[in-house]
Amino acid sequence: ENERTLVIVKPDGVSGNYTTSIRNIILQSGFTIQAQLTLHLAQHTVTTFYAEHSTKAFFPSLVKYMTSGPVLIMVLEKVNAIADWRTLIGPTDARKAKITHPHSIRAMCGEDLQRNCVHGSDSLHSAAREISFFFPEGTTLKHDEL
Ligand code: CMP
Repeated sequence: ENERTLVIVKPDGVSGNYTTSIRNIILQSGFTIQAQLTLHLAQHTVTTFYAEHSTKAFFPSLVKYMTSGPVLIMVLEKVNAIADWRTLIGPTDARKAKITHPHSIRAMCGEDLQRNCVHGSDSLHSAAREISFFFPEGTTLKHDEL
């Protein structure tokens, strides 16, 4: 059965010009892109999106990173999209990914535990939340500013 997942190409991925390579990997891996949106996230948007991490020591630095430049947000669809996307991106820590998962997306364009280039929803529940967070009226393409 088809599933949807939310992807964010983070500021380092966009500024490093990785969006074309990432889109090619997405399409070659059998996902369809249901919606996409380029945004320069506001502080309150990141704070709300990552609310579950708000008590962590790295949170202020995460907010600074995620607001440092434009991001590309996409909704991908495919059978087993959530797990398959997480396999493609590799471990959270891009530094580890370069060693243990050298062909992963984070190994290609991430730097470390924080600057890891891409996000992927971690469960059906968070995928639903994250997709409706950025696409509250559904996944027709839109170009608004948040
Ligand atoms: P992401 O998968 O988008 O989910 C939360 C993000 O917080 C994560 O990717 C990293 O960018 C960042 N992050 C997670 N853990 C840490 C950590 N221990 N130190 C710094 N940043 C982190």
